[in-house]
Amino acid sequence: MELLEIKKAAGRAAVDALVKSGMKLGLGTGSTAVHAIRRVGELVAQGLLRDIAAFATSFQAEIECEKLGIPFYPLNSRELSAGLDLTIDGADEVDTKNYLTKGGGGALLIEKLAAYASASYAIVADESKTVEHLGIGFPVPVEVVPEARVQAGRALEKLGATVILREAVRKAGPVITEHGNLLLDIRFGGPIDPAALESKLNQIPGVVENGFFTRNHPVVYIACSDGTIQTRK
Ligand code: A5P
Repeated sequence: MELLEIKKAAGRAAVDALVKSGMKLGLGTGSTAVHAIRRVGELVAQGLLRDIAAFATSFQAEIECEKLGIPFYPLNSRELSAGLDLTIDGADEVDTKNYLTKGGGGALLIEKLAAYASASYAIVADESKTVEHLGIGFPVPVEVVPEARVQAGRALEKLGATVILREAVRKAGPVITEHGNLLLDIRFGGPIDPAALESKLNQIPGVVENGFFTRNHPVVYIACSDGTIQTRK
């Protein structure tokens, strides 16, 4: 199976298994989560899902909801302020404890808000995302206010990370997040403790959020190249 088809299979499987009418639904970001959004849109259009109130975790997710006619609201709105029933999102890496790294698309801040505001959480991914140890192969973003670029970068290096300021594509200079911040992409040379780091990184002055997601227990839908879907809890 082609990678696009694999990602599509993961996104659709999670929606078909978990999404019910009346849900308050967090919708994630990226090339896999978009297939979950499209499946929700399809079911809404067919009248098979009713009274969905969605929360979009990024401009990308918002635009997709607009195109598909999925009703979406701010997280502070009357519709959603009591919390979300379920969030479906993608991941950059998933380890054997179902700890995650996210933010390859730069939307980690609001993705984390949605994840931790949700009663249940599902991750959709292709099999290439499963790893033994997080943060070695794929960089983990740390979102910092622009003024903290150098100081926070040094503090991250002291924790043993190599640090790279994320550069924009087809625009000179850094990526500016949807909240006006910068992303320091960090990587480690060996196994780290993701749960400890998730807390520790946010104590560095100027850090707004980081891409380790370890505090909730997602059900992970992993689509494989042979067409099968593994579900890991
Ligand atoms: C967006 O900021 C990310 O957290 C994505 O969820 C993650 O990068 C996975 O994206 P893909 O499904 O495109 O790999």
